Amino acid sequence: MINEARKVNTIGIIGGTGKEGKGLAYRWVKAGHRVIIGSRQWEKAQKAVETVTELLGSETELLEGMENEDAVKACEIAVITVPYAAHRPTLEALKDALEGKLLIDVVVPIVPPKVTKVQMPEAGSVAQEAQNILGENCHVVDAFQNISHERLLQDGEVDCDVLVCGKGKAAREVVLELVKDAGLKGWDAGPIENAVVVEGLTSVLIGLNIQHHVHAAGIRITGIPDQD
Ligand SMILES: NC(=O)c1ccc[n+]([C@@H]2O[C@H](COP(=O)([O-])OP(=O)(O)OC[C@H]3O[C@@H](n4cnc5c(N)ncnc54)[C@H](OP(=O)(O)O)[C@@H]3O)[C@@H](O)[C@H]2O)c1
Repeated sequence: MINEARKVNTIGIIGGTGKEGKGLAYRWVKAGHRVIIGSRQWEKAQKAVETVTELLGSETELLEGMENEDAVKACEIAVITVPYAAHRPTLEALKDALEGKLLIDVVVPIVPPKVTKVQMPEAGSVAQEAQNILGENCHVVDAFQNISHERLLQDGEVDCDVLVCGKGKAAREVVLELVKDAGLKGWDAGPIENAVVVEGLTSVLIGLNIQHHVHAAGIRITGIPDQD
């Protein structure tokens, strides 16, 4: 069931046709946000909209599909969920459209075949690389790197917290609200320099998945009383 009561943001997901993008779209539309699934191909975006609509169980005007650039132009908050190899070229192509926006970067610097080894980019992290490409007039915030798409596409509580770090406390607070709307517990993990930890953790979690024959190992912050 879609919650129509919340403050509605328009969220554009670059590469939203993939596994993680569809998971986030599903959760945010259910929370009442307007989501535009972006793709390099308009037709592929429509197909992803059909898939997420099926999961939602009913048609909704809150969900549509566009080419990536149109999705970014039409949104207030952009999200990028493309493989790491596509991160730089995609952002360079969308730089003008992203001017002045908040970008939630979900990309992990996974460099196959060594997916269980932390391999950070020269800039320090994917988020810092994005910030360098997009310049000071864009707020890049990391989130959702440690959440498997399988968990996002299932209903119910996700046994994993979300660390949010990036440029500007106000931008992080906006993202923390969206984490909450996605049904997850988020934590302000500080400035963009801390992204190395958040992004690096994913390789550790993939290693644990392999060792323990599971699909969605996650993390929890403990020792802080619940303030909700
Ligand atoms: N999957 C997870 O559970 C998970 C969890 C946490 C973080 N992440 C991170 O989230 C990102 C997306 O993961 P995913 O599993 O959703 O990836 P994916 O399904 O492999 O790809 C996502 C989308 O990226 C676009 N894409 C692929 N190659 C591209 C290229 N060369 N240039 C431009 N766009 C390209 C495609 O969209 P179009 O063809 O429609 O343009 C594709 O549907 C990755 O960086 C991953 O590390 C994933």
